[in-house]
Amino acid sequence: MQTSSSVDYGYLRQLVFGLSLNVLDPSRDYLFETRLTKLLRNQGMSQLEELVQHLKLRKNPVLERSIAEAMTINETSFFRDSRPFELLRTELLPKLIEARRNTRGLRFWSAACSTGQEAYSIAMLLHEHFPLQAGWNFRIEGTDICSEVMERAQAGRYHRIEMNRGLPARFVVRYFDHVGEDWEVKPEIRKMCNFRLANLGSSPLPFSRIDERFDVIFLRNVMLYFSQETRKTLLAGIHKVLAPDGILFLGSSEQPADPSIWTPMLAGGTCHFRPRQPS
Ligand SMILES: C[S@@+](CC[C@H](N)C(=O)[O-])C[C@H]1O[C@@H](n2cnc3c(N)ncnc32)[C@H](O)[C@@H]1O
Repeated sequence: MQTSSSVDYGYLRQLVFGLSLNVLDPSRDYLFETRLTKLLRNQGMSQLEELVQHLKLRKNPVLERSIAEAMTINETSFFRDSRPFELLRTELLPKLIEARRNTRGLRFWSAACSTGQEAYSIAMLLHEHFPLQAGWNFRIEGTDICSEVMERAQAGRYHRIEMNRGLPARFVVRYFDHVGEDWEVKPEIRKMCNFRLANLGSSPLPFSRIDERFDVIFLRNVMLYFSQETRKTLLAGIHKVLAPDGILFLGSSEQPADPSIWTPMLAGGTCHFRPRQPS
């Protein structure tokens, strides 16, 4: 794919970094051409160069935000990398449920949840495998920086191709309604999930109340777009909002930037992390 020598890609990369902390490699500058086509059309522009000139002349926070959002990678699927879900079901959740038998509640955070499949997967897993906890308060918070994917997560509506990725057939029948060409998450699963816009680069993190710590956090496949410094700051914040006996899942190729505050645990063919407490 071609890039144009007259476009100031450095300016665009810096703009994206300033808003989402995503570090874009210059070798992938061509992505600006493909991902900003629609935005250019909506602005009545035909060239990236025009867009950059326009932004340099006059600040436009709404447009800048749309550019940063358009450059996010929103790849996801139901029960992605199935092992963390399997481990939760067989080992980790039974223990957490036992530990929370007095408060009868568990809080989950699907951070950078894209179109919501990760959050809904957790909700379906709880509903399907822990029916005895029907009276418990299970809350799943889903957050992402991109408004388009947040709207889709809130709608809980998926195309056949998305349904075919990772979702057991019996879950389709049990937890979705067929609406036109799409499938919509049933209300009993939807009501367990709450979605909102949040930037993981903001400080403090969206959930900072000490009395509302999370029991399980999924922070998967987003840190790979961040610098080492951003990862370190983010994981220090995550450490604060995770219960002392809570569980952190990262993407299969991701590691904590500061290993001194996390204990890696190998189980079920995957790795999860426990927060280390200061001694
Ligand atoms: C590849 S998806 C991962 C989705 C899901 N966690 C998974 O593993 O399937 C990465 C998501 O991170 C979001 N993202 C990128 N930068 C972010 C930021 N600074 N704050 C919050 N979300 C961000 C993107 O919008 C995108 O939806």
